[in-house]
Amino acid sequence: MERNMKLIAAVDRAWGIGYRGELLCRVKGDLLHFKAVTSGHTVILGRKTLSTFPGGRPLKNRRNLVLSRSADFTVEGATVLHSAAEVLSALAGEEEAFVLGGESVYRLLLPYCDTAILTKFEGTFEADAFLPDLDASPDWKLSEQGEERVAEAGDSHPGLRWSVCVYRRRA
Ligand SMILES: NC(=O)c1ccc[n+]([C@@H]2O[C@H](COP(=O)([O-])OP(=O)(O)OC[C@H]3O[C@@H](n4cnc5c(N)ncnc54)[C@H](OP(=O)(O)O)[C@@H]3O)[C@@H](O)[C@H]2O)c1
Repeated sequence: MERNMKLIAAVDRAWGIGYRGELLCRVKGDLLHFKAVTSGHTVILGRKTLSTFPGGRPLKNRRNLVLSRSADFTVEGATVLHSAAEVLSALAGEEEAFVLGGESVYRLLLPYCDTAILTKFEGTFEADAFLPDLDASPDWKLSEQGEERVAEAGDSHPGLRWSVCVYRRRA
């Protein structure tokens, strides 16, 4: 199986990623990290995650591939795809493509990812959307542990400790 996608997500200690359609935390440093990593590349996201972006618009400076089962759904500035197979053919030959979520799209495309770039929040929040626990998976190993940072005044949870970790698929 070809594995040329990278997953990028922000998780809490229980691998929660969202609650009632929204992110668990908004931390400016993490949003800047997300922008720096994904800018200039292809990003793949679910229709519900797109709807949480300002104005429901695709991300700038990135090729946006949006998954929907609806044949009628269109969005200006993005390509709408309807299955994992369509994603794979849209990516043929692409170096770096990032899976942005949400839960259903992470689960759908995790088998095609070789790397997961995770922002880990050192807290547990009420959540109804989750990423599979990669620590519990025999297929994945923690490869890089970034330095600890602290959410600032103006972030949703000032004082919250967080760091960026990279997981890689075991050979
Ligand atoms: N922490 C993070 O890093 C992060 C990142 C992104 C999102 N999130 C959170 O994740 C939650 C949303 O996750 P979600 O699973 O509800 O929504 P989602 O994955 O963003 O979008 C789900 C939609 O994608 C389409 N879809 C899913 N699987 C498909 C398939 N196999 N083929 C074709 N289309 C498919 C469907 O669209 P249609 O209904 O149009 O058919 C489905 O309703 C929110 O709480 C959000 O804030 C967290």
